[in-house]
Amino acid sequence: MKLIAATLFAATALVATNAMANADLAKKSNCMACHATDKKLVGPAYQEVAKKYAGDKGAEAMLVEKVKKGGTGTWGKVPMPPNANVKDEDIKTLVKWVLAGAK
Ligand code: HEC
Repeated sequence: MKLIAATLFAATALVATNAMANADLAKKSNCMACHATDKKLVGPAYQEVAKKYAGDKGAEAMLVEKVKKGGTGTWGKVPMPPNANVKDEDIKTLVKWVLAGAK
């Protein structure tokens, strides 16, 4: 198991781009337990989020706060719990990545 994990990690590192680093950060931060880039899971697809806020200059700051503290009512009745264990700078990076279409 360890070897497989190490091999996978090495392979990922080889082709790592900035985008993949962000996707990895989203996985590591547990966001992908509830979100996918292109389809709704518990939370909205990140590509839908990007569409909703396209051209909205205030969206980034608002979403950083929302991801940090959690919230509900924008996409349905299911709330997003606070992500208090994720560093502020990581949340910022993740929100930027989401708003750019999560690619
Ligand atoms: C336990 C499930 C869960 C986890 C974990 C989770 N989310 Fe969410 N997320 C949701 C739900 C549900 C919503 C929809 C909330 C609403 O309707 O207002 C949401 C909404 C969002 C939105 C859109 C908010 C809006 O107001 O339009 C963003 C951006 C987002 N999440 C990013 C993240 C990031 C980044 C992480 C990881 C740090 C994360 N989420 C972790 C469930 C989750």
